Amino acid sequence: MSTAEEVEKRRTFGIISHPDAGKTTLTEKLLLFGGAIQTAGAVKNNKIKKTATSDFMEIEKQRGISVATSVMAFNYQDKQINILDTPGHKDFAEDTFRTLTAVDSVILVIDVANGVEAQTERLMEVCRMRKTPVIIFINKLDRDGKESFDLLDELEEKLKIKVCPLTWPIGMGDRFKGVYNIYTKSLNLFSSNKTGISDDIQSFTDLTSPELDEIIGEEAAVELREEIEMIDGVYDAFNKDTYLSGDVAPVFFGSAVNNFGVQELLNTFCDISPSPRGRDTDLKRIEPADSKFSGFVFKIHANLDPKHRDRIAFLRIVSGVFHRNTFYNHVRLGKKIKFANPTSFMAQDKSVIEKAYPGDVVGLYDSGNFKIGDTLNEGEKFSFKGIPSFSPEIFMELENLDPMKSKQMEKGIRQLLDEGVAQLFIQQPGSRKIVGTVGQLQFEVINYRLEHEYGAKCRFVPKNYFKACWITTDNQEQLTAFKRAKSNYIALDKDENLVFLAETPFLLQMAEQDYPDLTFHKTSEFKLEE
Ligand code: G4P
Repeated sequence: MSTAEEVEKRRTFGIISHPDAGKTTLTEKLLLFGGAIQTAGAVKNNKIKKTATSDFMEIEKQRGISVATSVMAFNYQDKQINILDTPGHKDFAEDTFRTLTAVDSVILVIDVANGVEAQTERLMEVCRMRKTPVIIFINKLDRDGKESFDLLDELEEKLKIKVCPLTWPIGMGDRFKGVYNIYTKSLNLFSSNKTGISDDIQSFTDLTSPELDEIIGEEAAVELREEIEMIDGVYDAFNKDTYLSGDVAPVFFGSAVNNFGVQELLNTFCDISPSPRGRDTDLKRIEPADSKFSGFVFKIHANLDPKHRDRIAFLRIVSGVFHRNTFYNHVRLGKKIKFANPTSFMAQDKSVIEKAYPGDVVGLYDSGNFKIGDTLNEGEKFSFKGIPSFSPEIFMELENLDPMKSKQMEKGIRQLLDEGVAQLFIQQPGSRKIVGTVGQLQFEVINYRLEHEYGAKCRFVPKNYFKACWITTDNQEQLTAFKRAKSNYIALDKDENLVFLAETPFLLQMAEQDYPDLTFHKTSEFKLEE
């Protein structure tokens, strides 16, 4: 098979949802279809349970397990599907954001009863920013939930994306009879199938046929005809281009736990979702078809065992072909490195691979060479852009409790930052270290790991900041005035970018008003436009 054909058959995507909407269940059913697992329940232990929030070691243990399922690759029809796992736990949202930079499309799972929840809105913001194509799966139709048209309105309003229903539910809860597939004009009658993979799909092109009344009952048939007519009137017909440009999200209805509507989702996904896409670098855009190999690290997973300080860096391949035991440029470090044991994640077995193609994710054993966002390539050197940092939500000042161990602490904190556990802002005077995270849990992680892996003892003192905003401007005079006026709230991030630590939304608004030539960014994504 040629490289172009290898690229074309790959589909690299992530499943995102608010916790409990059904992401794990759906992932598992997709794996069943791909033959990657034989029984339901295999992915479950990957899940970080809500109840475990206070027990961080338990969570880390589960995160350890999740290395194996960080990427789940399997073949389905003529495609190679790569699912990149995203942690559902909200304290690991930053991990999820970064994983979204390594996917080419997304399936968003919504609970029919809860509709769009807070975390979904934030994840969707990231997809919109990157113009990632999104398919929405409305789950748990076997339970009563929101009325379908209301739900579509809610999706459009809260997720700020146009939707296009491709299947339509016939009743819900106790009265759930199945879905009508608008895209393929077929009827799929509901039957619960928690462990197997058979869907009973029958072609049904003429909804006016009296046969429909016989199959689903007169009342449901009348309702379905009316609703499909309304959909025709209200929503544009599906157009693959508007999906691929991230402007319209096709919507499916189903019940993941009953394995219902999942095969339709998967078939359509294979049909319409994008094959690996190119990425921007500081030099030029790189396309999968470019002959020279390139890729970037989007995730680093540490081994918690202090005796084995190795880590796994996850590399998304963007162009060319990656080969084992071949020297590549580590662009940031300016040196060449090769990998003896790169691993793939096919069918949950981690195995050493000889080569990998654009769209694939390869695990590289690392003894501290990599940071999140690093580029690996051959030939002309460049760096991929746009592994963004997002403004943290909780800020604490890091205090060293054992001055004899300050070197160890310094080293430990740098390594944890490389892994993306937290963000660090250095504040003058005194080089004070402000650590920012999206969740409380990370502080426990940092404390524990600094002590157990680096022998350093620290304490966190809460800081009352609301957001960290990256500042850009062309007006140096205004910037100087701002820095003078707000010197206590200015810090530098890891790349020495200027950041404003705003204490309240009001103070941020005042800063925007008083210094109109300064732009305050809530993510470091602005670097994309540089
Ligand atoms: P998550 O990864 O998004 O957090 O969600 P997960 O798949 O773990 O699903 C959350 C809960 O919702 C699970 O129940 C799961 O069985 C249930 N669920 C998933 N899909 C459906 C569906 O289509 N219909 C119904 N009725 N429930 C569904 P749980 O009680 O938390 O776990 P379990 O004891 O059932 O494993």
